[in-house]
Order: sequence, then structure tokens, then C-alpha cells
Amino acid sequence: MRSDIFISASAGTGKTYNLVKNYIEVFEEAFRRGETLDVHNVVAITFTNKAAKEMKDRVISWIDDRIALGHPGKWKTLRNRLTYAWISTIHSFCERLLRESALFLGIDPGFQILSGMKRVMLEQQTVRGFFEENLEKLEPLIELTGLDEAFKIFRDSLSKLRHELAVHPSPAGYSSLELGEHAEKVMAGSECFCVNFRELLDRYEARSYRMGLVDFDQLLTKTRDLLLQMPQVREKYRERFKYILIDEFQDTDELQSEIVSLLRKEGHESLPLRGRRETVYLQVQGSRCDGLQQNYGRIQIQRAGSAPPDSQQAFAPGAGRVSKPPLPEDHAPRLFWRLLPLRL
Ligand SMILES: Nc1ncnc2c1ncn2[C@@H]1O[C@H](COP(=O)(O)OP(=O)(O)OP(=O)(O)O)[C@@H](O)[C@H]1O
Ligand SMILES: [Mg+2]
Repeated sequence: MRSDIFISASAGTGKTYNLVKNYIEVFEEAFRRGETLDVHNVVAITFTNKAAKEMKDRVISWIDDRIALGHPGKWKTLRNRLTYAWISTIHSFCERLLRESALFLGIDPGFQILSGMKRVMLEQQTVRGFFEENLEKLEPLIELTGLDEAFKIFRDSLSKLRHELAVHPSPAGYSSLELGEHAEKVMAGSECFCVNFRELLDRYEARSYRMGLVDFDQLLTKTRDLLLQMPQVREKYRERFKYILIDEFQDTDELQSEIVSLLRKEGHESLPLRGRRETVYLQVQGSRCDGLQQNYGRIQIQRAGSAPPDSQQAFAPGAGRVSKPPLPEDHAPRLFWRLLPLRL
């Protein structure tokens, strides 16, 4: 039996404690069964670097306890291997995975992280360059909003909404009836935005990769693309990551959930996306689920795939969703509609 576990409980009730306990127990069980299990086979994800450090410290402390109890053997080896453990934030996880496999995407594995002012400047320069070279093509939009507003729409889309754009369809657009006398102009502006935003995004990506730079959004979107578009790479990681433990799962957004879903082995039940309550998600192999249920006391556990009884609405309807490639056809227009009303 293969089964995932989803723990839902309120603050301070021991969710992280149980996640760490699980991290230790999977090794304990592997040692007992004489199976090979390395830190490369277990992923633990949490939300901040501070929380990741705390989690790693807790793991070390559990291992030290076992060594102190007089069972050094494999625990000592594990303790030494912990430097390489995959215990981190989702961004650090993606960064590490991308560095290993960046060449599949034609990205320099030694890439630098593009953030802060450097990122803002590269975005600004790319949009400015794009406008300078394509003023004629941008005319329908400029006519609708004015030059400054058009520039802002592109810049904001590139800097603030790109991550969202990769997964979230924005609220639906307007019908031409609602737009009234503006209809024709707005439709032309929308089309102009969609066509050109794609070009701008390609240009920004090509430029950043050429400079050996990857920004935080790209860490996630490129990891998703890699896993989605390269079945052999996806399989390699699915084989490797036998256990995936995620703390604070309620804060996982759709793109992040999609990455986790892509790493799940075939045959697993579908993964519920985000819960409203504080949650932990454990992808666990073997027949461990039933025993765990008893150990967790006050914590409510469910198998992944079934909604919690008291919060049917708490999950996004995306369980088992099929991943979409970045910028599917209908995303850019929706983004445009979303930005436009503020300026009309
Ligand atoms: N079964 C347990 N045995 C011993 N100590 C426990 C147990 N469960 C929780 N604790 C302790 O209770 C405290 C809170 O636990 P923990 O941090 O795991 O809770 P949490 O549900 O993750 O909290 P938060 O909602 O803040 O993330 C910790 O100090 C932890 O060591
Ligand atoms: Mg916690």
C-alpha cells in the first residue's frame, strides 16, 4: 500500500514535531529492514529559512538522542550526511534541483539569484528596450491608456504578476457590452498586450539566462517546466524522493503544489492543495499510515485526496490537476483585464 498523509491541527499542537518524528522514523524503519535510504531520498520543506534551520536542528537533536542511547551505527553516518539533507524552503529546494538539472533547460548551473534592485533594474531595462523598439506595434495599447500607463501595465505584469500568471487565471474579462463605447479600443489594446507580453517575457527570460541570472519566480516556474517537460528528469526525481514532508502546507500556493504533485510517484492518490487550517503534508511510502493514526493523538489525520470533514471548501479544486505550460493561451488576456479597470 502506498499512501499519503495530511495532518490538520491548530497552532502549537505538534505538527512540526510529528513531521520531524516522521523524518527520523523513515530512516529507523529503513535501518531495521536493512534498506538503503539516504538524505537524498527524503525532502522536508517549510516556509522560511529560519523554520528550515529549526527543523534541521530538531532532526539533529533526535539523531543525537539515538546516538546517545547507545545505537551509534548508521545514525552516526546519517548525522554526517545531514549537511546534504534536503531540508529547506521550497525556493531553496527548487534552486538546488535546478542547479543539478539546469543544463536540460539550457540554463547555466552556476546561475546567480536575481533579486532586489538588480531584478527591478533588469525588468525596467527590458521593458524600456522593448518599448523603444516596438512603439509602432504597441500603438493600440498606448492609444487606449497613454504611454506611461502602458509602460506601467507591462512593468507591473512582469514584476508583480508573473508568478501568478503562471498558474492563476485572473478574474474573467468583460463582455463588449459592459465596455460600451470603449469596446473596440479595449479589445484591440488587450490583443496588443497579449501578443507583446509574451514577447517581452521571452526577452526577459533570454536576457536573464544569458547573464546567468534566475529570479525567485523563475526558480519555481523553471522547476515546474523542467519536471513537466522532461519526463526522464521527472522520473529521476520521483525515484529519488521517496518521502516528501511539507510543513505549513496551507501556505503552499498552486505553483508550489504543482511542483510537489509532479514529484509524486505514479499511482499515488491525488493531492489536496491548500487547507485553511494549519497543515502538514507527508508523502509516505509503505504501510505506515495506520500506525501513525494512533500516534498522533489530538491531531486530525486524513489520507491525501479526501477533503477534511469540517472544511470541504478549504481545498482548491485542483487535486490531480493537469499541469499547464507557462502562459497558457487564456492567461495573458485575463491578466490584462485585471489590470485595465484600474486605469479606464
Ligand atoms: N508528542 C510530543 N511529545 C513531546 N513534545 C511535543 C509533542 N508534540 C509537540 N511537542 C512540543 O510542543 C511544542 C510545539 O510543537 P510544534 O512546534 O511541533 O507544534 P506546531 O503544531 O508545529 O506549532 P505551529 O502551529 O506553531 O507550527 C514543541 O516544543 C514540541 O517539541
Ligand atoms: Mg510548526
